Amino acid sequence: MNAKQAAAFKAVEYIKKGMVIGLGTGSTAYWAIQYQAERVKQGLQVTTVATSAETEKIALQCNIPVVSLDSVEYIDIDIDGADEIDADMNLVKGGGGALLREKIVASASRAFIVIAGDSKRVEVLGKFPLPVEIIPFGWQHTARQLAALGCSTSLREKDAKIFITDNGNYIIDCHFGAIAEPAVLEQQINNIPGVVDNGLFVKMATRVILGCDDGTVKVFS
Ligand code: A5P
Repeated sequence: MNAKQAAAFKAVEYIKKGMVIGLGTGSTAYWAIQYQAERVKQGLQVTTVATSAETEKIALQCNIPVVSLDSVEYIDIDIDGADEIDADMNLVKGGGGALLREKIVASASRAFIVIAGDSKRVEVLGKFPLPVEIIPFGWQHTARQLAALGCSTSLREKDAKIFITDNGNYIIDCHFGAIAEPAVLEQQINNIPGVVDNGLFVKMATRVILGCDDGTVKVFS
């Protein structure tokens, strides 16, 4: 078991019969879906909500029941990956472009378990470019206002085309280098007209499970 698999496997142990589970997006969350699928195959009854179209597709292929977020009152446990995690369990997310739905699902959850290889742990957030989801209208103006907060910006592309999120929006990756005050920056960014949300997840995680290459895990809460 590698680091990602170890973290994912541990997180799935928290799932109990009848729970509503948030399914994260990305290569670590992928493993949580696979381990959950094994338990579903063995008879575990769960309902899930996906954080992206890609994740929904993977879950359905594994015969995991997926429902819309609005068809449940709340989510018991959301299990998702992260791009950076600091000592206060603040996160940068959105490397896969799913940050908006990931944040909505996490905020609808009673518990939010973050799973990652231990290389994702950092002293200070910001080395990983912070993804910001913006609406396409006037995007260059929005990008300039983001740059005025002290970063260089790049419009995300995929296969030489502008990357479009599941919500029909663009992603601007903001290269801050270091983010001294995540809570302040999260609000400053979200105050810019045109911004839908950004990949800073401040004080949202209830537990962080870091996997190591030897298959062991460290759990923080
Ligand atoms: C998806 O948009 C992201 O928030 C992912 O959760 C994050 O990028 C971690 O992905 P990996 O588990 O693939 O590193």
